[in-house]
Amino acid sequence: MRLTVFNGSPRGENSNSKVLLEAFLKGYLKTWGKVTAVHYLREVRDHDVMVRHFIESSNVIIAFPLYVDSMPALVKAFIERLEPYKGSLEGVRLGFVVQSGFPESIHCRAVEKYLFKLSSRLGCQYLGTVVRGGVESIRSGPGWINNKMLSSFTRLGENFGRTGQLDRKLINRLSKRELFPNLYIPLLRILNSSGLLGSFWNKRLKENNVYSGRFARPYQE
Ligand SMILES: Cc1cc2nc3c(=O)[nH]c(=O)nc-3n(C[C@H](O)[C@H](O)[C@H](O)COP(=O)(O)O)c2cc1C
Repeated sequence: MRLTVFNGSPRGENSNSKVLLEAFLKGYLKTWGKVTAVHYLREVRDHDVMVRHFIESSNVIIAFPLYVDSMPALVKAFIERLEPYKGSLEGVRLGFVVQSGFPESIHCRAVEKYLFKLSSRLGCQYLGTVVRGGVESIRSGPGWINNKMLSSFTRLGENFGRTGQLDRKLINRLSKRELFPNLYIPLLRILNSSGLLGSFWNKRLKENNVYSGRFARPYQE
């Protein structure tokens, strides 16, 4: 089996998407599977070449981060380039990995529905969408914290290489934190008031000299 991979993160080589894809491919490459190319959609000047490669591929995985409950603009720009081929891509089997900063999978469900519809409009065979929340912890947390998640991606890749399918059980396991139970809310409030919950983002705001404006509401004024 041959697989073409698209990384839709604006962070490109430094992205969390890349870390997840590498874990997936580590498993996939244990099988007879071959990777024809890993494309970075941030290289928008190369989109023509990438479109050609997409339409000629038999298996495609597109991974991207959730941006504002949807997708980065460069992913949308690439998808729009596929418009001339709609309904004609029955030879392409298409799967997605959508990962987000918020830990709950529910944030990705709207875009998952869109991706299902997109696949059918293009005429592709839909392989499924892997949804995973809390992925920004790859940067902010200690390394071991993500070991379990990454080994699930590796298993998913290996299984994909052997069966040609994205295993439903593994997808469900990866996205199982759908919504925090109400019970968590008081605990999250305490963590929030202690400053622990926002420490990662507050650090980023301070680094960029915008901490004092963190509650600004420019559109309300
Ligand atoms: C502009 C922007 C918008 C984002 N919007 C969301 C969002 O709506 N929901 C969410 O859970 N995470 C959101 N995130 C967090 C990213 O999805 C998360 O950090 C992801 O792991 C980044 O992956 P990458 O390194 O592959 O780009 C956003 C991040 C940025 C920079």
